[in-house]
Amino acid sequence: MVFDNKFGMFIHWGFYAQTGIQEQVYARFDWKREDYEPLKDTFNPVDYDPEQWVKMAKAAGMQYICFTTKHHDGFCMWDTKYTDYNIMNTPYHKDVLKMLADACAKYDMKLGLYYSNPDWHHPLAYNPGSTHQWKSVDKEHYNVAEYRTFMKNQMVELLTGYGKIYTLFWDIPPFVQDDSSLNDLARKLQPGIFINDRGFDKGDFSTPEREYKAQEMTRFTRMTEACNSLGQQSWGYREQEDFYSLRHIKTAIDKYMAMGASYLLNVGPDGRGVVTEAYADRLKAVGDWYNKVKIGLEGTDGDDYDYCDEHNAFIATKKDGKTYLHYYDGLMSSAVALKNFPSVPKSVKLLNTGALLSAKAERLPEFFDIDTGRSEITYLHISGIPVDELNEPIVLEIEW
Ligand code: GLC
Repeated sequence: MVFDNKFGMFIHWGFYAQTGIQEQVYARFDWKREDYEPLKDTFNPVDYDPEQWVKMAKAAGMQYICFTTKHHDGFCMWDTKYTDYNIMNTPYHKDVLKMLADACAKYDMKLGLYYSNPDWHHPLAYNPGSTHQWKSVDKEHYNVAEYRTFMKNQMVELLTGYGKIYTLFWDIPPFVQDDSSLNDLARKLQPGIFINDRGFDKGDFSTPEREYKAQEMTRFTRMTEACNSLGQQSWGYREQEDFYSLRHIKTAIDKYMAMGASYLLNVGPDGRGVVTEAYADRLKAVGDWYNKVKIGLEGTDGDDYDYCDEHNAFIATKKDGKTYLHYYDGLMSSAVALKNFPSVPKSVKLLNTGALLSAKAERLPEFFDIDTGRSEITYLHISGIPVDELNEPIVLEIEW
């Protein structure tokens, strides 16, 4: 089981979804504990249908789901015996994680678990060396060791009661990552699990979040899982969300995955358990594009050949003797001209539409030598790309 180059669905869901504001509304808008915590008493997501979620993820080409078992608010979305602050003590009274795990097993969807280290409900959880401690219960009397024992107990529940677990997504690392005992336990309980770098040691994979522009354009040397939400202001359900453009999301996916990362795209189901149209339609649109180009992303390696396109930014991947050129920012014109190429390709396919493109080795009149006035260089000229119809990353499949 490998981890790289997979597309996954992040799901942020808790009783905060009822507010339609954000998963951290408690801290961000400084709610009082007595206003926030009783929201569990009205949490009754009667429309929760995890098979529906899994089918949505599948249809979008996703191979795994990562679910928030416990977010910073400390509320547990499974039947835990270590705190009463859990889903069994809501009007819904069902283990929603178990239901999701069953749906995943039924449809052969891998399941990963998100778990927040900050906990705004557990009385001993304050960790002065970490961030996101704003709503900690007691900033004087805390006990890091005892809280870690609580976490380990919960890990045993999560990693033994819900089938095969693919990834463990810790959130918010402590100041020093010098305790491997939690990850050791996780590996003992779930051999082969992939663990992220936000826990108590460096784990297996890195987790760049939200922003892709600042990333260097070189292939990742460490296992990486990038993540972003469909909306800019929240991971949890937000009624008036500022959704990213589909173009932005697709570009990020293409870029990160072409550089060797997996990509987790987040949806926030609402307080009734529904992935509302605003999220579902966007997910579908991303998935429609992804399913067309994924052959050039999943299971690929970087292609180091220097193709030298002087006009458009791209990343090259390869698989089974084919090269995939990812023009993640689209193209300047309806053609690409590669200055270097190993041979004239057998075929070039535009994955976005499935169309075969004209690919010829030829000289091009406007790419000429200023001293001689002659077009000296023979380019690999791939033309006829309907750029104006494609407001998305363009992927070319080259068969040599
Ligand atoms: C940040 C946010 C948190 C979210 C996480 C997802 O850490 O604080 O709300 O769960 O990103 O990666």
